[in-house]
Amino acid sequence: MKPIRIGLLGLGVVGGGVWTVLAQNGDEITRRAGRRVEVAAVAVRDVAKARALVGDAVTVTNDGMALALDPDIDIIVELMGGDTLARDCILAAIDQGKHIVTANKALLAVHGNEIFAAAQARGVMVAFEAAVAGGIPIIKAIREGLTANRIQWVAGIINGTTNFILSEMRQRGLPFAEVLAEAQRLGYAEADPTFDIEGVDAAHKLTLLASLAFGIPVQFDKATTEGLPGLASEDILHAARLGYRIKLLGITRRRPDGIELRVHPTLVPEDCLLANVEGAMNAVLVRGDVVGLSMYYGQGAGALPTASAVVADLVDVARLQMADPEHRVPHLAFQPDAMVDIPILPMAEVRSSFYLRLRVDDRPGVLADLARILSGAGISVGSMFQQPHGDRQADIIFLTHEAREGDVDTALQAMQAQPFVRSDVTRLRVENLS
Ligand code: NAP
Ligand code: HSE
Repeated sequence: MKPIRIGLLGLGVVGGGVWTVLAQNGDEITRRAGRRVEVAAVAVRDVAKARALVGDAVTVTNDGMALALDPDIDIIVELMGGDTLARDCILAAIDQGKHIVTANKALLAVHGNEIFAAAQARGVMVAFEAAVAGGIPIIKAIREGLTANRIQWVAGIINGTTNFILSEMRQRGLPFAEVLAEAQRLGYAEADPTFDIEGVDAAHKLTLLASLAFGIPVQFDKATTEGLPGLASEDILHAARLGYRIKLLGITRRRPDGIELRVHPTLVPEDCLLANVEGAMNAVLVRGDVVGLSMYYGQGAGALPTASAVVADLVDVARLQMADPEHRVPHLAFQPDAMVDIPILPMAEVRSSFYLRLRVDDRPGVLADLARILSGAGISVGSMFQQPHGDRQADIIFLTHEAREGDVDTALQAMQAQPFVRSDVTRLRVENLS
């Protein structure tokens, strides 16, 4: 059978990884795919640099659209990033009847509904395993392995850069900026690393996971995103004292009245599996009503792990290319006409336990007043400790039982208004993930 010809948009960290994997494991990949996967052309900004890598047998251009429109190319592999040229090229390639493989979660989280609808109408595949959790086949697991289940929730460490930063800061005491620079050097970070640090990249991925898990449209604009900048190192220490670690988690959970969709620093018990996922590793927990809890763990970023997912998608496309479109696996796991528009819950309706920290005057009655405020808002305290600060003040840390976030915010406003409260009240969410 003649080779399947791909047009590679981007030959950076991931594109370079794909080039390496196809060269390194070409024979094995051909045995699996049933035909050879051949890079016919690449599009980059720096043509000379790319030419030095791929040699003369491959067309090198800086015109990505030319590849999207080239009738000799069967599959466009989009690894440029961004959501302007990448979107235009993908839509043009779909229009030409080409299949798409992409790692671009930022694009799919925002324009996924449009792209999947266009692909559906044209009968082509859009494969995006590398867009979530790097080398972990989490999309395949949810889309194909767990189809017997009504999925209840998905929670995970889905950004390698921030997990690397949190691990290095906690284990080696390194400063934030130094660890971020190292994550960039290792190829983990996005072109704009604020996407990683602010939790936006994780929210892009979580948005896709929520669609796959619950059969809802892609709705990044409804995701709540809090990143690392608001996190104080003293909270990492207090959390450790309480038996918790802080991880940047993406959590999406089905509730009777809607879907939670949120990314934020989260306290997790130090003996739970997620707490022990370190460095750029990712892990995703999925809770299904039939299977119970399952966990997926692996390298979440970097050239070769991400290329592993891209090439797996290429093999899938090569295998399924001849199948009738209606016999292929739906892009978002559910048949397109069976997607449902369940509302995304506002954060006030989200439920979790909470870690609260505030500095107060250290005098009789203060603790009782704080406890009264919490109980008045219907919030039950699980544990608390007090740490002296100077001779007249103290830091108070509460861990609450599960509560509605809106009620916690009401209580925090009341606390903040007390004359004996000397700091902003820090509020972090706690998840036991059981
Ligand atoms: P990267 O290293 O910055 O590479 C981007 C590539 O795209 C470069 O080859 C660049 O060309 C090319 N490019 C950019 N703009 C272009 C344009 N206008 N025209 C033609 N070529 C253009 O990025 P990356 O880390 O490989 O990430 C690529 C995608 O994979 C992104 O969507 C990212 O979110 C996603 N992703 C990355 C990882 C990871 O670990 N890095 C993991 C999962 C998913 P030059 O080489 O000439 O600059
Ligand atoms: N910047 C991303 C991360 C790359 O750190 O997880 C993988 O998607």
